[in-house]
Amino acid sequence: MTSQLTGPTATRGSAPPLPAARGPLSTLVTEYLRADPHVPREIRTPGSVAETALSAVDPYGDDLQLALYLCYELHYVGFAGVDPAWEWHPALLAVRGELEGHFLSALHHDVPVGPGDTAAHEMDELSIESPDGDGASYHLRDAGTWDQYRQMFAVRSVFHLKEADPHAWAIPRLRGHAKAAYVAVEFDEFGGGRGEAVHQELFADLLRAAGLGDDYLGYLDIAPAAALTPVNLMSLFGLHRRYRGAAVGHLAATEITSPPGSQRLLSGLERLQAPEACRHFYREHVEADAVHEQILRTDVVGDLVRAEPDCEADVVFGIRAFLFVEDALDAHLMTAWREGRSALAGDL
Ligand SMILES: [Fe+2]
Ligand SMILES: [Fe+2]
Repeated sequence: MTSQLTGPTATRGSAPPLPAARGPLSTLVTEYLRADPHVPREIRTPGSVAETALSAVDPYGDDLQLALYLCYELHYVGFAGVDPAWEWHPALLAVRGELEGHFLSALHHDVPVGPGDTAAHEMDELSIESPDGDGASYHLRDAGTWDQYRQMFAVRSVFHLKEADPHAWAIPRLRGHAKAAYVAVEFDEFGGGRGEAVHQELFADLLRAAGLGDDYLGYLDIAPAAALTPVNLMSLFGLHRRYRGAAVGHLAATEITSPPGSQRLLSGLERLQAPEACRHFYREHVEADAVHEQILRTDVVGDLVRAEPDCEADVVFGIRAFLFVEDALDAHLMTAWREGRSALAGDL
């Protein structure tokens, strides 16, 4: 297998720099991360440090979502100049816990799950695809410009350069057949034993082919909150065993909605005669995710719900939360483009 590994790839680069804060919460987290974690400090909370009470902060806004993203990133690659000891520092974990609590209560309010809601019904609903929608992938297919595609690539890079990593946290929380099937899907996402086929690497190839930077989190500073929220959702589900059902539901929703969405993005790229590496990323998802969808439905969700019926409500929650935050990102892109603005907070 070693001989199949190719040369240096983008995601092996150095850790990204800390981005600029976007308000009191992300300032608080940034101050922690710039400090020495070995110096004793009191445990402060956002509620006591932020000028306004946490309950008054937009749970999906720039400040909270960036603060949460910074906390979670410590479990992935981290940031240049930030001591890795912050990953498990009680003071920072206390802050993270408050941010998560505010985010989660907003989600539970916005995507309630009733006692009769089933995962099977929820997955069936996901499969109903309209040939003519008004979302970003439809726009990109039919009329999107190359510049809009490049914006979407940069926006999505805060996820795709760590694609499949957030879901991997759930693996030790699953058992038996559900675990085996879940790992089979993750194995494909991680390249099936081939470094150059890791989906994160395919996305780095796409970025380079589009004339964009392929640095890990290179666009974090100008990524909108709506792009950070979906990644934070995955990290939250993956890092809390209590939410393993939601992590599974989230991956199922991702895989079920991916083939038609990826096909629309691929069609638009063909219309624009975009570079092959850009098309390849989406073609790969049209083909692989059609298989992943079936595995998730039957072997992962089916087995989990049979073995652990108490998880079913969380599977439904994971699916609905996925749709909620993805719709918000879609709305962000379309609003920016309708108004003739960039979807990013800076130039590419
Ligand atoms: Fe993928
Ligand atoms: Fe997939």
